[in-house]
Amino acid sequence: MDHMRIEGGVVLRGQVAVSGAKNAALPLLAASLLSQGSCRLLNVPDLVDIRTMIQLLHALGSDVSFENHTIVTQVRDESHNESSYDLVQRMRASICVLGPLLAKRGQARVSFPGGCVIGPRPIDLHLKGLRALGAQIDIREGYLEASCSKLVGAEMDLQGLFGSSVLATANTLMAATLALGTTVIHSAAREPEIIDLCHFLQGMGAKVSGVGTDVLEIEGVSSLQGYEYCVITDRIEAGTLLLAAVITEGDVTLTNVAPSHMMAFLDVVSSMGQDVAVDDQSIRVRGRRPIQPIDLKTKPYPQFPTDLQAQLMSTLCLAQGYSRIEEGIYPGRFMHVPELNRMGAQITLSGSQAVIQGLVRLKGAQVMSSDLRASAALVLAGLAAKGTSYVSRIYHLDRGYEQLEVKLRQLGACIERVSENVGV
Ligand code: EPU
Repeated sequence: MDHMRIEGGVVLRGQVAVSGAKNAALPLLAASLLSQGSCRLLNVPDLVDIRTMIQLLHALGSDVSFENHTIVTQVRDESHNESSYDLVQRMRASICVLGPLLAKRGQARVSFPGGCVIGPRPIDLHLKGLRALGAQIDIREGYLEASCSKLVGAEMDLQGLFGSSVLATANTLMAATLALGTTVIHSAAREPEIIDLCHFLQGMGAKVSGVGTDVLEIEGVSSLQGYEYCVITDRIEAGTLLLAAVITEGDVTLTNVAPSHMMAFLDVVSSMGQDVAVDDQSIRVRGRRPIQPIDLKTKPYPQFPTDLQAQLMSTLCLAQGYSRIEEGIYPGRFMHVPELNRMGAQITLSGSQAVIQGLVRLKGAQVMSSDLRASAALVLAGLAAKGTSYVSRIYHLDRGYEQLEVKLRQLGACIERVSENVGV
């Protein structure tokens, strides 16, 4: 099993290009199932989750090629409609083939996703949206068995306990594109990844309005065509790399970014006393000391994203004073806390809140990744720590960051992937 070995204390400097967004590419790949023709997606990151989705599309009868960050898909056979337990367990986003399969083929059998390490992750809003369109969905032997003769447009509200849901919005939106009549989704997610999906669907011939607002209106059409589309850049990878600049007091410029997708994050970094300069498609952050402590709550877009909470927490370990972070999306997404504390951090948890006492430095240690963003947080901590850190179980990192260690090395970091067992 691979580990990441990091010699901390190097100041990161330089420029690096950000990859395409995993969380945008995955629903776009699912949407390709709706198309009559061939779809071509550019700027797709080469990640384990993307490879898993390609495997799923193969199993569902698509021809798929993936070369040079470009995926070409073409549906060949519509007789296989099952998303297996194995694939859904590996990647929850597999659930977003449910809407396209129902809309295009009238049936789907998708393994019921369980919880995961960041929380329970229910799917009631997915089911609510699809049932409102007329789908029959039963749960048998751990699978969602869904069918419909023809979906029919409807008006619905997809507000959940923690706000809107990204993939429930994506699933319902995709299903509605081929439904009879008009669908109105209230409390729709407004994340850039949903806007990207709307643009892709529009290119395929779907009629979607209200894009970027919390009310989406979809007028069903009889068929959708193939389309070529460039996936947006990954705002979470970008945020992670910018926090690497802050935590090492470095000077990092990112290219191929969309600053407009990151305003809440950039405001927070500025309020931490850091120097942020934004251009059309680039962002430069110059790390400053002291790092000012902050108090924030993660929330759905356009507010501060949960997917940067862990990385921000590592950075706040070096702030001057006490910070407080409340997790507003996944109340238990704090698996990184005990690991950061192994590196000398002083973080206390109380329910969905963490209080972080700032320190002068973290200390290198052997730590274990529990999930994708927690892994990134531990890598950041390792970059700033005194001495050597080993981050184990980095297969989590490979699900969502394309060659993170290569990008960090480009900025001067002393980090390498090691395959041998280092005794953790
Ligand atoms: N929720 C419900 N019912 C549902 C669906 C969600 O109550 O039917 C709740 C969730 O439990 C959570 C909140 O709604 O409290 C938001 O969850 P959401 O459905 O938006 O999450 P998701 O769509 O399953 C995507 C990303 C996550 C990211 C969240 C929130 C993908 C593939 N995944 O998940 O990304 O954290 O939105 O922004 O797009 C990651 O990349 O590390 C990651 C976990």
